[in-house]
Amino acid sequence: MQKKIEMRKIIFATQNKGKIKEVSHLIFGRDIQLISLLDINDVPTIVEDGSTFEENAKIKAKIIFDKYKIPTMSDDSGISVDQLNGKPGVYSARYAGENATDEENNKKLLYDLKTLPEPHLAKFICSAVYYNGKNFLTSSGEVKGKIISTPRGTNGFGYDPLFIPDGYDVTSAELNMNEKNEISHRAKAFKKLINLIIQQTEQL
Ligand code: IMP
Repeated sequence: MQKKIEMRKIIFATQNKGKIKEVSHLIFGRDIQLISLLDINDVPTIVEDGSTFEENAKIKAKIIFDKYKIPTMSDDSGISVDQLNGKPGVYSARYAGENATDEENNKKLLYDLKTLPEPHLAKFICSAVYYNGKNFLTSSGEVKGKIISTPRGTNGFGYDPLFIPDGYDVTSAELNMNEKNEISHRAKAFKKLINLIIQQTEQL
């Protein structure tokens, strides 16, 4: 008789549709049922007041695990620009103010870089964590590149239309999902994290 494979339920603590698409794509074929915060009612308010990506990712995972008692993955990510001393960094999502749209954040970034000489070197950073009520598993990923002065492309989200990864002549928003998942900071962090989760469960 064939053994029935139990799907492992994991909450992905985000409402960001771009992130949900990317991570769903990465776990395809694994025995994981991913539940996002868009699938759940009564989501608690999360204040991301950590000073690093990892601290913020841990805050999100713990709040969501404590409420639903389901193992939770989360990430915190952003873009860090050399000429702006690492800004927007952990403030990437709200660079142009609380509840700013991607377009408003992109406009502010271009405004801040307007008087500075090219190239505007930058990197995307992602810290990914998993919390099961006992311990945290953590991993991270980076992708280096540069910011251009005119947005290009409609895929992806956030700062993707302004970012050309090293070794490419198109922006992240001109890459398709498979291409972005080959190189992105989030893909690097989550590929490692998913392997750690599987290893940890095998040891139980
Ligand atoms: P978080 O939800 O607090 O991790 O905020 C991440 C913010 O960083 C997003 O709202 C985007 O502005 C930016 N960001 C993170 N990852 C990406 C990416 O893959 N592409 C474009 N922008 C990103």
